[in-house]
Amino acid sequence: MRGPTVKTPRNAPLFARRDVAARACACKGRCLGLRHSQSEGNIVPRSPETIDLLLTRRSVKPLTMVEPGPDEADLEIMLRAASRVPDHGKLAPWRFIVFRGAARAQFGKVLRHIFAAEEPRADEDRLKLEENRLLQAPLVVAVISRLVPSKKAPEWEQRLSAGAACQNMLVAATALGFVGAWLTEWYAYSDNVAKALGLGENERVAGFIYFGSPSQPKDERERPALADIVSEWKSE
Ligand SMILES: Cc1cc2nc3c(=O)[nH]c(=O)nc-3n(C[C@H](O)[C@H](O)[C@H](O)COP(=O)(O)O)c2cc1C
Repeated sequence: MRGPTVKTPRNAPLFARRDVAARACACKGRCLGLRHSQSEGNIVPRSPETIDLLLTRRSVKPLTMVEPGPDEADLEIMLRAASRVPDHGKLAPWRFIVFRGAARAQFGKVLRHIFAAEEPRADEDRLKLEENRLLQAPLVVAVISRLVPSKKAPEWEQRLSAGAACQNMLVAATALGFVGAWLTEWYAYSDNVAKALGLGENERVAGFIYFGSPSQPKDERERPALADIVSEWKSE
């Protein structure tokens, strides 16, 4: 139920406007004047911090990441956020493989071995780079896109959902105070790596996401102007 309408001056400070809204609201102030849907008990609070995070988040090169990485509790939050993405048909068309501790070095040996076989002319420097890849960051999570037979959700939608899982995980990690990078490189596309990861025929890597703490301030990169990418549909 919508509460009585109270006029709030447009230029009133945010908090003043919130107070007026709270008093006017049918939920009798329980929503603290924050935005909520019209049905009581279904409150959707505003989160300026989230908006700030979304408008400032940046990827960071794994080489610049340092300890500490997300701990067990942080990781659980990140994985829960990743598995709460829009998912047509409730198919859960994704799964996650976590690399941390010694497993990063062990998987590095696998990468080195596969790269050497796929690129026989690779020199020792390059092979070392492959071997040490996952050691660059305290934590790496491979997001696996899993195609599930469905009459409702075509492959395109299931792949999009996996992309959303990657982004949710990045956003959650950023909110927890970490930095991240969503990478694919050659090893997301190698059939041999897919086999080593135990992927099924219906599965492919959406990304290897690296997480750690920042060692330097983040810079900004150019973003597309909204005018170049947004249009408004108008009937002819
Ligand atoms: C699916 C996907 C794969 C990517 N793979 C790589 C990659 O292999 N190497 C790389 O340098 N950046 C890769 N990127 C780009 C970075 O994740 C990141 O978006 C880019 O560095 C820009 O930084 P920003 O996230 O701060 O805008 C990939 C992005 C996406 C969406």
